[in-house]
Amino acid sequence: MSDMAVAVGGVKLRGPVLAASGTFGYGTELPVLERRALAGMVSKGIFLRPREGTAPPRISETPSGMLNAIGLQGPGVDVLIRDYAPKWAEWDFPVFVNINGESALEYGEVAARLDGVPGVAGFEINISCPNVEQGGLYFGNDPRAAAAVTEAVRKRTSLPVWVKLTPMVSDIGVIARAVEAAGADALCAINTFVGMSIDLNAYQPRLSFRTGGLSGPAIRPLAVHLAHQAALAVRIPVIGIGGIMRAEDALEFLVAGCAAVQVGTATFVNPRAIAEVHDGIAAFLEAKRFTSLTDLPRYLPRD
Ligand SMILES: Cc1cc2nc3c(=O)[nH]c(=O)nc-3n(C[C@H](O)[C@H](O)[C@H](O)COP(=O)(O)O)c2cc1C
Repeated sequence: MSDMAVAVGGVKLRGPVLAASGTFGYGTELPVLERRALAGMVSKGIFLRPREGTAPPRISETPSGMLNAIGLQGPGVDVLIRDYAPKWAEWDFPVFVNINGESALEYGEVAARLDGVPGVAGFEINISCPNVEQGGLYFGNDPRAAAAVTEAVRKRTSLPVWVKLTPMVSDIGVIARAVEAAGADALCAINTFVGMSIDLNAYQPRLSFRTGGLSGPAIRPLAVHLAHQAALAVRIPVIGIGGIMRAEDALEFLVAGCAAVQVGTATFVNPRAIAEVHDGIAAFLEAKRFTSLTDLPRYLPRD
């Protein structure tokens, strides 16, 4: 068996495949899945206080993908600490909390409340959130705002801090470098693309929120390119995300320079997706006679 372990931004993972935020809930449905293949999980995005999310319809299927506008529904930090973290503390893989805020201060506060809570292994900062203080511009669109959020979290915790980048930028390398300089341990690339779909019977958008985040295989080549651009821009590890359905898809991200991957939408279609991706990577390494995942050639021409 090839060695599948990877070190990513402050943690050693037993494999390269994690569950992506928002597609795995709080992990409580896990017994139905094959947890041996799961290197880690990122929980659904959380704010300081409970949030109801957007009105239905919140999901719409698209060619090779889906649009979602859940509106970051969640129970807030206190309930997460009371109901979920104690369960996570008993699991044999790390759980990262996807943290959100309307201001840099709120992000920092969420991290501070969760710091040291048994079961919380680290943070994934979701910078695809509107910055209320700056008129609703996404934190992730502006290198200064993205760095400010990263710094606010970094200051309040000693746990690993990963920053999840939005694809809705003109140069992902600029944002990647800004959050690396602000203290991120790793980057996750990418979150969903903003999209829209129209119901021709109703003459209006299919989603009540009008727009939604596009995920699934439809975004994969865009995501591979953006993850590669991010990996070229920084020295810290990059975790690739976007449209991974099979092992070959994950291997594209790994060869493009990523240290690990997250699987999201695929789990909705196939609850065994993560296990199949993990096993398929292992089979590829064996067929190519690589003794460990770190031996996989990476395509990262830096000049
Ligand atoms: C229903 C749904 C909910 C999501 N919720 C979150 C979230 O709370 N926080 C976050 O950072 N990303 C969230 N995402 C984005 C995914 O984690 C992932 O970045 C994206 O879907 C692309 O990967 P995929 O094509 O494998 O799904 C969500 C995606 C979906 C489909």
